[in-house]
Amino acid sequence: MATDGIIKIQNLSFFRGDRAIFKNLNCTIKAGKVTVIMGPSGTGKTTLLRLIGGQLKPSQGKVLVFDEDIAQLNRKQINQLRARMGVLFQSGALFTDLSVFDNVAFPLREHMQLSDDELYNRVLLKLEAVGLRGARDLMPSHLSGGMARRVALARAVALEPEIILYDEPFAGQDPIAMAVLQRLIKDLNTQMKLTSVLVSHDIAEALAIADEVILLGEAQVLAQDTPAALRASNEPAVRQFIHGEADGVIPFHFPAPPLEDELRGPRILL
Ligand SMILES: Nc1ncnc2c1ncn2[C@@H]1O[C@H](COP(=O)(O)OP(=O)(O)O)[C@@H](O)[C@H]1O
Ligand SMILES: [Mg+2]
Repeated sequence: MATDGIIKIQNLSFFRGDRAIFKNLNCTIKAGKVTVIMGPSGTGKTTLLRLIGGQLKPSQGKVLVFDEDIAQLNRKQINQLRARMGVLFQSGALFTDLSVFDNVAFPLREHMQLSDDELYNRVLLKLEAVGLRGARDLMPSHLSGGMARRVALARAVALEPEIILYDEPFAGQDPIAMAVLQRLIKDLNTQMKLTSVLVSHDIAEALAIADEVILLGEAQVLAQDTPAALRASNEPAVRQFIHGEADGVIPFHFPAPPLEDELRGPRILL
């Protein structure tokens, strides 16, 4: 296995139309750690996760996962790679017509040939790990938001992946559910010897859970370091983000032509 980085992003550029979401971005995600990709909304955090997961292809540069260039893999190889990489997207809701048990069993039934007993035991162990073994017969509509997120987490780790990707896992959770999820993500990372990659725009949560933070901005990595080092940083862009200053080097405006070029009709108000 790659010791110098389980995920390596090399000179990555990614365009949407004419707009560069990423321009020559480089970063390395280390095995065994919880890495948080952080940045203001719209900086491309979800896009980066999708590039890592192989749902999007780089315009230029490479995304290496387990030392494989995912843009070069065929469909079968991508599927094999995805079995090693669990994903918990924000929209990755539970199947509403399946029980908690059947939700967690779903990927196992799709991808593995387990006996009924093996399947049952595996599902129960995963539910136990998220504290919801007792909820196995409930339907998703009977779960709180935090419980639903934990079931989704059990489902995401059912195939025992080596990497798990989380998109905004704490969004919309109350503080208690959030604290539970934070501890769970951290504990699962240790117990299952995972590599966890989270995306978050929430600074406090991200710094609380991360071993390492990748700070995105301006189509680049602004900084990659431990939470303690980032808190102590004197870099203006880092300070602006970490200390939540509205004005600074990270622009408020989404890129656009000059306002005067875009307004129509007589310029009475200008
Ligand atoms: N399917 C799409 N088509 C065109 N632009 C998109 C699409 N998805 C995202 N974008 C744009 O790419 C940028 C990055 O989006 P995203 O990765 O979702 O940001 P984040 O997750 O950091 O909020 C945003 O400006 C967004 O408007
Ligand atoms: Mg996003």
